[in-house]
Amino acid sequence: MAEPTLPADLKPVEINTNAEIVLSKRYYRKGGDGKPVENSTQMFWRVASSIAEEENKYPKSTVPAETLARQFYDLMTEWKFLPNSPTLMNAGTDLGQLSACFVLPVGDSIEEIFDAVKFAAMIHKSGGGTGFSFSRLRPKEARVGSTGGVASGPVSFLRIFNTATEQIKQGGTRRGANMGILRVDHPDILEFIRAKEREGEFNNFNFSVALTEDFMKAVEKNEEYPLIAPHTKRERGRLNAREVFELLVRKAWESGDPGIVFLDRINRDNPTPTLGEIESTNPCGEQPLLPYEACNLGSVNLAKVFAPEKDAGVDWDELRRIIHLAVRFLDNVIDASQFPLERITEMVRMNRKIGLGVMGWADLLYQLRIPYNSQEAVHLAERVMEFVLEEGRAASRQLAKERGEFPAYAESVYAERGLGPFRNATITTIAPTGTLSIIAGCSSGIEPLFALSFARNVMDGERLVETNPYFEAALREEGCWSQKLMESIAAKGSVRQMADILPDSLRKVFVTAMDIEPVYHLKMQAAFQQYTDNAVSKTVNLPHDATVDDIRNIYWMAYEQGCKGVTVYRDGCLSSQVLCTGDSS
Ligand code: CDP
Repeated sequence: MAEPTLPADLKPVEINTNAEIVLSKRYYRKGGDGKPVENSTQMFWRVASSIAEEENKYPKSTVPAETLARQFYDLMTEWKFLPNSPTLMNAGTDLGQLSACFVLPVGDSIEEIFDAVKFAAMIHKSGGGTGFSFSRLRPKEARVGSTGGVASGPVSFLRIFNTATEQIKQGGTRRGANMGILRVDHPDILEFIRAKEREGEFNNFNFSVALTEDFMKAVEKNEEYPLIAPHTKRERGRLNAREVFELLVRKAWESGDPGIVFLDRINRDNPTPTLGEIESTNPCGEQPLLPYEACNLGSVNLAKVFAPEKDAGVDWDELRRIIHLAVRFLDNVIDASQFPLERITEMVRMNRKIGLGVMGWADLLYQLRIPYNSQEAVHLAERVMEFVLEEGRAASRQLAKERGEFPAYAESVYAERGLGPFRNATITTIAPTGTLSIIAGCSSGIEPLFALSFARNVMDGERLVETNPYFEAALREEGCWSQKLMESIAAKGSVRQMADILPDSLRKVFVTAMDIEPVYHLKMQAAFQQYTDNAVSKTVNLPHDATVDDIRNIYWMAYEQGCKGVTVYRDGCLSSQVLCTGDSS
């Protein structure tokens, strides 16, 4: 595709150094020699103009495409909103695959299993991540009709998916990410829970066990529960639920894997149950999808709506404006996106799911001087996300007026409940924003800062060192900034132990992930989940000395607080980790 011409009066992008490193490595269009042929201004204009152009398809559109292109460009380059990575990489290019999240079915036959491997390869090549449920596969050692032999079972086939992923680098530079899910009542569940025991095994997968309400009740009552062979629907043994839960907790303590997802809860929120059952999420867990469905995500940077003079310190009018533009952007992305499979295109166009979320939450709290681990922060989280959902829905209703509701609307739960009509079957999702937050220079998703000053290992050993700007500003304001202090904070990451040097008021506000009690990680996740159609990406980060009991409590709290799943990570439990403070790097 030809380079779009830059308008002469377009404001060039001001970009931070880390963002420039990431963008030039992975995002800029490259020429035949592998060198970038665009800069950040050209990249954002390519994305803004190509997504705005979709507007021309709709005669009832209320905004001219040229005006919209400018608005999208400003929105992104003022770091107020960013779409997920594949949109930044591929919009306006020949590849044109713009979604980060896919779920593929894995059927119980060699043909279907290898179809899924092939489809996953095609998706990874285009920059998307894939989730699969392996629950339909017959268990290990079950009979195979056609050959009279015995089946290998889900874990054995998972290895093939993992190896295939290893060979295909996403979008040329990043490895494909996968989610592998197995129902807790699958006969091979114990093998699955132990599958990542050896470090490095299945390294291209996150694993999650799909827990059912029946299973959770059996844990509570310390009862046995039946294992069901999916191909015969017959019982194939029984296990004590509490013992399985304990094993799961222990493995998560050892390596962070597997996580858990509450499958019944996810299906209770399935907006179109007549189109099928949800069996899996995308790789990081925030996006449950039907088989062959894809979803594109985008995130509002909350750090940019701080306004001390406004109600609760938030510029609600600006937030509303951002949300409405973002929803239009994400809906246009659906039309602009080209998918590697016709089935996926059909499913996506049927439900038109989008996932608008937030990032920069910890940065907003820092600016407001509200500690992350406080009831005040939890209340504000509810208020902010309720606003995002309400305004997101209003924007989707407006789009339905201009463009029609999503085709499966009539059979959706919204029609049944008299909500809508909407343009999109889901509107909100909270993504991890691993790369987006680097580009926007904000804290990621709804996570607390990992450290106030830290080194980040990204992309083949490259190290980025960052100090939180709000923290630095606060130190200067209080008159306690010094180079020496900065160095000692960089080494420690946290200021919790610095009572002798820093005032209490600062130490309370500038908390980092491991200063925060698990219960507040969970309360925050639950607060955002309450107003999120899809799910919330959240890792409960724990210090190295956290116990198995801590993990058990977290899993249980996640269940009780209405979360759709949870992931834990104990500092230093794996030898290679993405984020580290000065001490451990
Ligand atoms: O920040 P960015 O848009 O790159 O991605 P993210 O918010 O960290 O992750 C959102 C989703 O993108 C994940 O849940 C995956 O579905 C997908 N992803 C992927 O496929 N491969 C990666 N290396 C990172 C993310």
